Amino acid sequence: TLKIAIMLVIGYLLGSIPSGVWVGKLMYGKDVRDYGSGNMGTTNTFRVLGKKAGIIVLVMDMLKGTLAALLPFVFHSNANVLLIGLSAIIGHVFPVFANFKGGKAVATSVGVLLVYNPLFFVIAWAIFLVTLYLSSMVSVASMLGFLLITIVSLFFHDVILSIVAAALTVFVFIRHFGNIERIKNGTENMVPFGLGYKR
Ligand code: G3P
Repeated sequence: TLKIAIMLVIGYLLGSIPSGVWVGKLMYGKDVRDYGSGNMGTTNTFRVLGKKAGIIVLVMDMLKGTLAALLPFVFHSNANVLLIGLSAIIGHVFPVFANFKGGKAVATSVGVLLVYNPLFFVIAWAIFLVTLYLSSMVSVASMLGFLLITIVSLFFHDVILSIVAAALTVFVFIRHFGNIERIKNGTENMVPFGLGYKR
């Protein structure tokens, strides 16, 4: 219906806001895509511009998913929160405001989860932090995190959640092909957190 189409478009436009690029350019005069991994996401913003910029981009990128997932409530629609949230994730990865070259779907997906199921949001963060602590690589934590979240979702007896989680897991792996190459070569960037990081 028309309402669903409108929500999908708004969600896509929200997701398309390239937070990392805009924060970098407007606040620091730097395009994060020219440095580090070349990604515009939270991780590379932390890497290139530091903690404050990283946190701002993390919050903005999650918020894009959260706001999109709230649209069904704003529009008094019973459309599935996850499916509307998915439009923001697609926007984040293929942003109309940045030549359709966007991020890796991690932060925005987590933002959608907050609306869909806050408990699941907390579980996702916990899994992410544990895998990050063990690996010291955000890419590993992201991929493993999505995989584990998909497995955990099976205990929620929620078919749509499991299907979306599984699809996103495949998608997140595809977006991390460059990272997987670097992990194999032993050249993947590490964060100064957890067991893997050597000073
Ligand atoms: O969320 C993206 C993260 O998993 C990897 O980012 O910049 O290290 O490729 P990056």
